[in-house]
Amino acid sequence: MSDFYTLTGIKKSFEGKGELIHVLDGIDLSIREKEFVCIMGNSGCGKSTLIKIMEGIIPRDGGEIIFDGISPGKQVSKELQKKMGIVFQGDNLLEWLTVYKNVELPLKVFGQKDKAENKAKVMEALELVGLQNYWDCIPRELSGGMRQRTSIARALVSDPDILMLDQPFGALDAITRKTLNQELLRIWHTTQKTCVMITNNENEALYLGGRVLVMSNSPSRIVHEIEVPLTYEERVNNLALNPIYLKLRTELARIVRSLDTPRQN
Ligand SMILES: Nc1ncnc2c1ncn2[C@@H]1O[C@H](COP(=O)(O)OP(=O)(O)OP(=O)(O)O)[C@@H](O)[C@H]1O
Ligand SMILES: [Mg+2]
Repeated sequence: MSDFYTLTGIKKSFEGKGELIHVLDGIDLSIREKEFVCIMGNSGCGKSTLIKIMEGIIPRDGGEIIFDGISPGKQVSKELQKKMGIVFQGDNLLEWLTVYKNVELPLKVFGQKDKAENKAKVMEALELVGLQNYWDCIPRELSGGMRQRTSIARALVSDPDILMLDQPFGALDAITRKTLNQELLRIWHTTQKTCVMITNNENEALYLGGRVLVMSNSPSRIVHEIEVPLTYEERVNNLALNPIYLKLRTELARIVRSLDTPRQN
């Protein structure tokens, strides 16, 4: 697997309360094609800031990005954004649009106007997340899990090269979260997409991630990296009894506990 998305020395500060808040202090990160990388860190350490820089939603102050062989300027371009499927922290669905129209949105934004072609893509994405029968519902008619499935379908609809997810299941109950973890793993396995996911849940990180990266508190860097050498079959069959998983869970729990209490802004 070759390096697909590389970040070197990424820095970011925000103006806040009359002072500069240093959030990212030189993030180095390399993602290989088709791998699933999970990123963890305390609340406020800069996880969303990092993924928004990767997505081209906000500019970086310093550092280099190379994505799919291209080195963009201070902000990742709209052209490169077309290669990304984005799932935001909070589902960001438009309440006045149907599930179908929400999922179709990225195609329209990127100027794909062929109705029949769009319909085939939307229905394929909805099928992938098991919502093909709910295409004409509006978001408030959906459960929390179904809303997140819709936002995953929206991220997949343009057949992106990389899927970026920011705590997609953070607001869900434990059972729904587990089901959606299983679905996302299946989607990753069948579509072979490169995935980067922010999570605050150690079990989720180890279940999905081929690697788990841990950020320090802000101003943050990546301070730990855990390889998770488990096959797809091992992940879906009795993972809770797998000795490699159990060992890594203990290690990751120790690392997460060792992060200092986050700074209060
Ligand atoms: N647009 C902004 N303007 C000013 N400060 C910001 C802005 N966006 C983020 N911050 C600050 O940057 C820091 C990191 O925020 P960020 O949202 O990246 O954290 P996070 O790790 O995603 O936290 P959480 O796990 O709670 O989602 C926080 O101190 C936050 O207040
Ligand atoms: Mg966040």
